[in-house]
Amino acid sequence: MIAEPRDSLPAAPLRPHVTLHFAQTLDGRIATRTGSSRWISGPPATRFAHELRAEADAVIIGSGTAIADDPLLTVRLVEGRQPLRVVLDARARLPRSSKLLADASTATIHVTCSPARDGEAAHVEAWRLPPGAGGVGVDLDALLQRLAARGVSRVLVEGGNRVITAFLRRELVDRIVVTVAPMILGAGIDAVGDLGIERLDHALRFTPVRVFSLGDDVLIELARRRSTEASA
Ligand SMILES: NC(=O)c1ccc[n+]([C@@H]2O[C@H](COP(=O)([O-])OP(=O)(O)OC[C@H]3O[C@@H](n4cnc5c(N)ncnc54)[C@H](OP(=O)(O)O)[C@@H]3O)[C@@H](O)[C@H]2O)c1
Repeated sequence: MIAEPRDSLPAAPLRPHVTLHFAQTLDGRIATRTGSSRWISGPPATRFAHELRAEADAVIIGSGTAIADDPLLTVRLVEGRQPLRVVLDARARLPRSSKLLADASTATIHVTCSPARDGEAAHVEAWRLPPGAGGVGVDLDALLQRLAARGVSRVLVEGGNRVITAFLRRELVDRIVVTVAPMILGAGIDAVGDLGIERLDHALRFTPVRVFSLGDDVLIELARRRSTEASA
């Protein structure tokens, strides 16, 4: 049997490009200590957040955000196509009444590490994935591989703290768009949790791509700086 030339073999799916987006206060909080986050950003920045959704193939949030905020995760404030909605819910805690599971206007992927539940709505795709490191949440590498195999090439991670932290910890973030609102909360939910970094030269570094204002908010877009790139 003659071996197929290497070039004609199907390429293994690469992981999708990952953009992290969140709105934080001047002191780095994404919510008050009671979990209230609506709305940290003003209307023009919220509209821009919908533009980011429209350019993504899939939008990802954690079950904490899905339960606290019950978002629709659709594109409504601008014209554009609807991304897949992906909720990471390892322990299958999300109630069926939540908008992501009840609103059939576009597809939702409900990712758990638990046996499939009966009676999911037709717009809900149930994915069962292995648990992440230390048994916490869903394995993000497996998630991104499966999304790539599903034809997803750009994902937008919208939070909250634990999911943002997990993507950064696994070094899976290619771009960050952070909206900084001119307010201070003091104690609250941090944008990013502990990454186990103790030395400054181990910091995850990003290169600013652009800085611009929308209403009262300042937006910063940054690209991941790989360790091979020279630092200033
Ligand atoms: N200002 C903003 O831009 C913004 C954006 C989003 C959210 N928020 C705020 O953030 C708060 C929620 O943050 P949060 O940290 O509590 O919740 P979260 O990050 O949205 O969700 C965390 C949960 O996701 C599940 N999960 C599944 N796979 C995971 C993984 N690999 N890594 C981490 N978690 C995984 C875990 O629950 P299971 O084990 O049950 O799966 C985990 O407890 C809310 O107050 C919300 O309003 C603010």
